[in-house]
Amino acid sequence: MSSGSSAAIDTEPVTLTRYVLEQQKKHPSATGDFTNLLNCIQTAVKAVSSAVRKAGIHRLYGIAGQTNVTGDEVKKLDVLANDLFINMLKSSYLTALLVSEENDNCIAVETEKSKDDGPPKQADCLQPGTEMVAAGYALYGSATMIVFSSGNGVNGFMYDPAIGEFLLTEHNMKIKPRGKIYSLNEGYEKYWDEPTKEYVRRKKYPETGKPYGARYIGSMVADVHRTLVYGGIFMYPATSENKNGKLRLLYESAPMAYLIEQAGGMAITGTQRILEVQPTDIHDKCPVFMGSKEDVQEVLELYQKYQK
Ligand code: F6P
Repeated sequence: MSSGSSAAIDTEPVTLTRYVLEQQKKHPSATGDFTNLLNCIQTAVKAVSSAVRKAGIHRLYGIAGQTNVTGDEVKKLDVLANDLFINMLKSSYLTALLVSEENDNCIAVETEKSKDDGPPKQADCLQPGTEMVAAGYALYGSATMIVFSSGNGVNGFMYDPAIGEFLLTEHNMKIKPRGKIYSLNEGYEKYWDEPTKEYVRRKKYPETGKPYGARYIGSMVADVHRTLVYGGIFMYPATSENKNGKLRLLYESAPMAYLIEQAGGMAITGTQRILEVQPTDIHDKCPVFMGSKEDVQEVLELYQKYQK
């Protein structure tokens, strides 16, 4: 029971399910489908989190197809996570098309609607990020987190294994207007274009003030999460080898750009807002610069300078 005092907050944690239900109530026409979909996603995240915890013991870091000590076939973590998500999303009966980096083609799910109207097609996925209504990521580490937005700011939910629920711990996350960290794979410097080279040089050898710190985990989710929390800029630029970089528009760059913008930051390819990029294939890639607004703005200005 709520006593109305602030002490009641500890005993009344806002779970992800409760949070989404409360949001749903604000929209009387809502069907509850989104709430149900998020519940399915939560279950998949919990299952992956449990697998991550056992990964070392069960040799899940190994190659898919390996056999474990008891003779069972061991799936690599990414294959396992992909299977779990596809399974949960299909069985929600709330999804029509799924796109994953592990699958060459998109996965069409038969629904009541598709039975009548015909199955959805790959082309239906080829929409710019401006059409997105929600995005999120799960972060697995010393703690498991879900960070998500449905267009009303960004919220972070930490998994509490003791009660099996995700609890709202980061309310309305906002990214600093300027940070002190730049993040990219410096090993590829010789392949970078001139704006990227000049930008990184400026961060390392500023004319005034201190240089930025460098951080790069090599996992987009972790690098963007840090950028969201501490500010700064995450980059995966075009290279002379790959003119669109490495990160996939539909399921890496655009969802993260959506979250960064929702948190008050900026996300561009160098010359264009990521959310406005029109995909032509489900596995399209695009160069990525995202994070604190002023930091990303500086990159945009450099690209404009070199275009002249
Ligand atoms: O696209 C997969 C991914 O692991 C991202 O999560 C990460 O940002 C990127 O690749 C790292 O690539 P690289 O090893 O080339 O720096």
